[in-house]
Parts: sequence; C-alpha cells; structure tokens
Amino acid sequence: MTDADAVSPVPGAGRVRQNEIYTQGIHGRRPRVPTDHAELERRARRAMSARAWAYIAGGAGEGSTMTANRVALDRWAIVPRVLRDVSSRSLGIELFGRQLPAPVLFSPVGAGALAAPDADVHIGHAAAELGVPYIFSNQGSAPMERVAAEMDGVRAGAPRWFQLYWSTDDDLVDSLLGRAEAMGAEAVAVTLDTTMLGWRPQDLNIGSLPFARGEGIDQYTSDPRFRDIVADRVKAAATGERPEISLGAIKTLFSIARNAPGSVLKNLRAPEPRVAVQTFLDIYSRPSLNWDDISGLRERTSLPIVLKGILHPDDARRAVDVGVDGIIVSNHGGRQIDGSIGSIDALAAIAPVVDGRIKVLVDSGIHTGADVFKAIALGADAACIGRPHMYGLALAGADGARDVVANIIAELDLTLGLAGYTSVADVDRDALQRV
Ligand code: GLV
Repeated sequence: MTDADAVSPVPGAGRVRQNEIYTQGIHGRRPRVPTDHAELERRARRAMSARAWAYIAGGAGEGSTMTANRVALDRWAIVPRVLRDVSSRSLGIELFGRQLPAPVLFSPVGAGALAAPDADVHIGHAAAELGVPYIFSNQGSAPMERVAAEMDGVRAGAPRWFQLYWSTDDDLVDSLLGRAEAMGAEAVAVTLDTTMLGWRPQDLNIGSLPFARGEGIDQYTSDPRFRDIVADRVKAAATGERPEISLGAIKTLFSIARNAPGSVLKNLRAPEPRVAVQTFLDIYSRPSLNWDDISGLRERTSLPIVLKGILHPDDARRAVDVGVDGIIVSNHGGRQIDGSIGSIDALAAIAPVVDGRIKVLVDSGIHTGADVFKAIALGADAACIGRPHMYGLALAGADGARDVVANIIAELDLTLGLAGYTSVADVDRDALQRV
C-alpha cells in the first residue's frame, strides 16, 4: 500500500458536514437521513419490512444485551478541556499499514438485501466514497468480487476486509480466504461468537430465517468449493444416497423463497436451490471451533487476522499469545446472548490487558460520534458501525449508508475539538469520568 492510496482525513469534517447540511437547508432541503440515532431508527423501521426489521434490529432474548451496550456507554461521561487551540484536528489512524481517514469501519451485516436490493454493493460504494474500510459479510447479499469491483470503481484500492464464518468444511474456508485475498481484502475478521445463531425472538416469532430463503448466502453460492459440495449432494440425492435433502417438507418454502424478489436462488437450476440452502445451513459454521483452529489460521492466509467477538480479558490475552493481529471487542450487536456484558464494559477491561500489543476494535451499540470518542478514550483503535448504516441504506440507498457514517465521523470531529483534543491519538481515559 502506498501513501497515494491513503485517504486523507477531511480537515474539519464536522464543520464541513454541518455547512453542507445547513446550506441545503437554505434551499429548503432536509438531510437524506436523520442526524440522530433515535429518529434514524424510527424512520428506518417505517421503511423496512417486518422481516427486515426483525432480523436487522432484533437481538437475543429479551434484548438486554442491546440495552447493556447503551448503558455501558452512558456510564462514561466526557469531561471537556478548554482553551487548547483545537482549530486544526486529526481523526486519522493507521490499521495494518493503511492510513485511514477516521477510526471508523462499516461492520459486516448479514442478509442486507432485506434492507435494500444489492445491499452490499451499495454499502461498498458508500464506504469507498468515504475511504473507510468495509468489512464484507460472509453472509452477504452479493459475491465479494462484485462488491470489490464496485468499490474500485469509486476509488481504486478502497479499503475492504472480509468477515469469515468458519465453516465445517475446511476447503470452503480456504476457498473463501483465497477469494478474499484476491479481491484485495486487507484483513480477515473471524467471527467467533456465532458458531450457532443466538435465540432471536423477533425472527422466531414470525418464523423468519433469511438464509433459509436464500437471503445472505451469496458468498457461498458464488464459491467454487461450495458449488462442488452442492453438485455432489444433488448427485447423492438423485441416487438416493442423501434422501434427507429432497424432503418434501422444505419444498414449499424454497419455491416461495425462489420467487421472492431478488432471490439469488433464481440463478440456480432446480433442485440446486433447495440443496444450496440446505448445504449452507448444514455447513456455514462450526461449533467445535477452538484456539487450535486459530493457531493454524496463519498457515491458511497471509492476511492480518482479527478475532471478532472477544469479551473476556483472558481471551484477549490468549489472542495476543496466539499471534493474531487484532481483536474486535463485540457481543455481535447483542444478537447472540441475552444478558451479556456490554461491549464498552468489556473494552474497558480488555484494553489495559492488550496494552497496545495488537489492534483493538470495538462494536455493538456504537451509534454516534460521541460513542466513538468514548470507545477511543477507553483504548479502542477504531469502532465499527453496524445497524446505523443499515438504517441509512434502507432510507436512502448508498447515499443514506454514506451519510449516516459521515455524520458519525462529523460528530466525532466536533466532539474531539470541543473536548479539547486535536488528535484521536491523544484521547485516553483522562478524557472520561465514570458516572
Ligand atoms: C449474522 O451475522 C447474524 O447476526 O445474523
């Protein structure tokens, strides 16, 4: 990566964005997406289908982990300092050799097509416009190569990572990693907390699993190894070796799914769609995943390895010992375990243990620029944004996803300056008080 590839931080991103919005206002135009999270969420809910809302906004159990994420943030207060000349500010950071304009990334979100057709392509477009990394979802709604090409069309080499769900099929893992390297991923984020889907009442109550309808399995149906597995299973079903695959019970579901607007299953010939979905459900994740798999990952990929879903300081210590390059402190947006520790509480315990030896990112409940500021102050190198950009996407496509994250970066810039800092690199725990 050369310096020419780096996107410089927008000087004064906060005031630039305010000026854009207020200037539009003079012409009677309102921002495409609300600039506060509460209204963004309200409007997105109105715009999204019940199924989309259940999957994207929903969480595990009674939703207490989502609450814990917010409560943990609210327990820290920013204590501003004054008279420090904050006229020139820098949000820029470095991650794995790449200069980035702000300490913010787009989180991977599965089955994005529920929010908008071609979701991942639009999000990639948005991220490339901002120059901030997009972590492609392994459960994405477009093949990674298509998203990468879209990003390159906006800005050649725009930063991208790949999120890996460790399949039960190691050859599929290798195939996905190889494709990620080929499409220019700069890191692989291995999600550790979703070896099984959590108990998600919003989806369960309406009997909706997007993947069972072929939504969010495009990284698989576009993968040569996955297609080979499907072809073998189709053959086995035809010869009666795998009768469970052709069960009539799932037939109706798949014919509905196949006819759904934008269904990827349309591109497959019967009986492949049915088998593809069943194969995905059988192999997408591996509950036996353990530290030995992670130790062996270095031999499988040249990419920096980031472990996503770390919440315990001992696991963070182990991640350092096993030689990965970074961790994402995350409870998966409160989608996996009800009653889990808030990710910011976990960050506060983990950052001192890691002590700068590897990169520490955080996600789950980060909605605003002030939230990102607190995460940085508590020792994160960067924060990942999930639901907010999906809401922007649902409201206004790629522009909406971009504007939501631009707003978060703008507020971060203003918070930085108004708190008395000129660089995110200088922000530490002294900027906060526990309340
Ligand atoms: C998958 O990433 C999910 O949270 O559903």
